[in-house]
Amino acid sequence: SLTVHALGIEFPSPFGVAAGFDKDARGIRGLGLLGFGHVEVGTVTGRAQPGNPRPRLFRLIPDRAVINRMGFNNAGADAIAPRVRAAVARRDRPVIGVNIGKSRVVAVDDAIDDYLHSTRLLAPLADYLVVNVSSPNTPGLRGLQELDRLAPLLEAVRDAAAGTPVLVKIAPDLADDQIRRIAELVVRLGLPGIVATNTTLSRDGLRTPTQVVEAAGAGGLSGAPLAARSLSVLRLLREVLPPEVCIVSVGGVETAADVAARLTAGATLVQGYTGFLY
Ligand code: FNR
Repeated sequence: SLTVHALGIEFPSPFGVAAGFDKDARGIRGLGLLGFGHVEVGTVTGRAQPGNPRPRLFRLIPDRAVINRMGFNNAGADAIAPRVRAAVARRDRPVIGVNIGKSRVVAVDDAIDDYLHSTRLLAPLADYLVVNVSSPNTPGLRGLQELDRLAPLLEAVRDAAAGTPVLVKIAPDLADDQIRRIAELVVRLGLPGIVATNTTLSRDGLRTPTQVVEAAGAGGLSGAPLAARSLSVLRLLREVLPPEVCIVSVGGVETAADVAARLTAGATLVQGYTGFLY
């Protein structure tokens, strides 16, 4: 009864695993068997990379939150493509999205070619593709959310994806009018959806002692404290986007009631990561 038809795909459930949990496409089948309707693999970058030095992942237990600065540790598009191909070939499988990002060694000005390398390898395999321009742990990445950089990137990926649905994943820290302008761009480019949101740089309103938060250091915050902003970004997007444009709502979702609330607020699909850890 919860089947969702979106992006030309039938999702057996509205709830899926957010990007960053199965970065290397090693757990798709198991996550599907746990009941997730879709798995967003990645972030996959054009080149293999080790990510940031450890420690790079910290739990803020009183907040049911996490701070991470993983830095896109992943095996790279060339190694991950055959794994996605094998997972897609199985009869009993969740919907498989692939989230792509910029390799750290590639300059921001050369980002499009790097995204296109991953697009050419992975778009023919994936059910949908997500252009990630919102992780805080790759220097310069979030700058790609500026409209004059975002438009050519999304256009290039859309064209190279040759019919595979392309969505863009945005940060919760953008100003509301920047979010509106990105939504308008998505409509103008004919893209089928937006994933909102990634982790936040904000450390406001946490219960965890300040010295513990400061000791964790730089990174994106996820989990319960992100829920309110994620929900307000969803509402903002739904005001601008026509109903046929898919919104994947993510950030602080912990319970079935949270999923229902996002759907009521206009989400097409919902994802979680930190709630699953807790
Ligand atoms: C993430 N997230 C993430 N997002 C993304 O687009 N690419 C990535 O590689 C990662 N990596 C990643 C690692 C870790 C350890 C965490 C906790 C999160 C962000 C994730 O997909 C999601 O947008 C946020 O975590 C908000 O959702 P939750 O965690 O509050 O449900």
